[in-house]
Amino acid sequence: MSSHPFSDQAQPDPAAPLLLFDSGVGGLSVLRKVRERLPQAPVIYVADNAGLPYGAKSEAQIAARVSGLLGRLTERLKPRLVCIACNTASTIALASVREVLEVPIVGTVPAIKPASAMTRTGAIGLLGTAATIRQGYVDRLEAEFAADKHLLRHGAPELVAAAEAKLRGQPVDPAVFERAARSLREQPHGESIDTVVLACTHFPLVQDELAQAFGPGVSFIDGSDGIARRIDALTQHQDWRKTRPDRALFTRGGIEVDQLGAVLEAHGLTDIGVV
Ligand code: DGL
Repeated sequence: MSSHPFSDQAQPDPAAPLLLFDSGVGGLSVLRKVRERLPQAPVIYVADNAGLPYGAKSEAQIAARVSGLLGRLTERLKPRLVCIACNTASTIALASVREVLEVPIVGTVPAIKPASAMTRTGAIGLLGTAATIRQGYVDRLEAEFAADKHLLRHGAPELVAAAEAKLRGQPVDPAVFERAARSLREQPHGESIDTVVLACTHFPLVQDELAQAFGPGVSFIDGSDGIARRIDALTQHQDWRKTRPDRALFTRGGIEVDQLGAVLEAHGLTDIGVV
């Protein structure tokens, strides 16, 4: 019998953690929702901060980096499930990661389907990284769920940097959020946007600032509720046992990690280290 924690689909090792993966702090917006549903779950949060930002990388770079890292991490940390809490990595590398890993993988999908059900004006904004908004994956979601709507896309790397800075307690220029709102508003049909898809896990962390910039009458939607529901469903009837403090692991240590201490602790991650 294999020693893999998921070799017996019904009962993995109760201490086997959920592994949440992102390029930086964005996956914490997903972890919040996972904690609400599964407060008893042991968690390891991994941030590939040495590779941040993924949004500026090529498809080939992201696919190679994410599959390689997750392959090694899964071997070493033996999670019962891996959540790629990053739209960029999911829309590009989910299929190749699923090919190489045996554990269940939950990816992050831009919330175009629920946005399509929410909009009254038929104009939906989508904010993601530059890499995410050009993916065929997004084209397919648009064709399937928003073919009769106007889906306006904008790649906003500045918002990734803003979320990273905000969580470190650093000041962020409000012009960053105004520029993101304006880039959508200035596109054809942009003036009637009433729903904005936050298609990058960093962006819910600056949702209040974005709401301010868009003004009243705009609702925001992201994929984190759906992910938490999916993880809950895939782990139904499994036992959980916490045998050690939950960990946050980074691919590069130093001051940029030290500055996150309080935020990580607020998310229940008290054992901080480098992969
Ligand atoms: N959090 C990542 C996402 O959801 C992107 C951040 C980055 O550019 O690395 O797409």
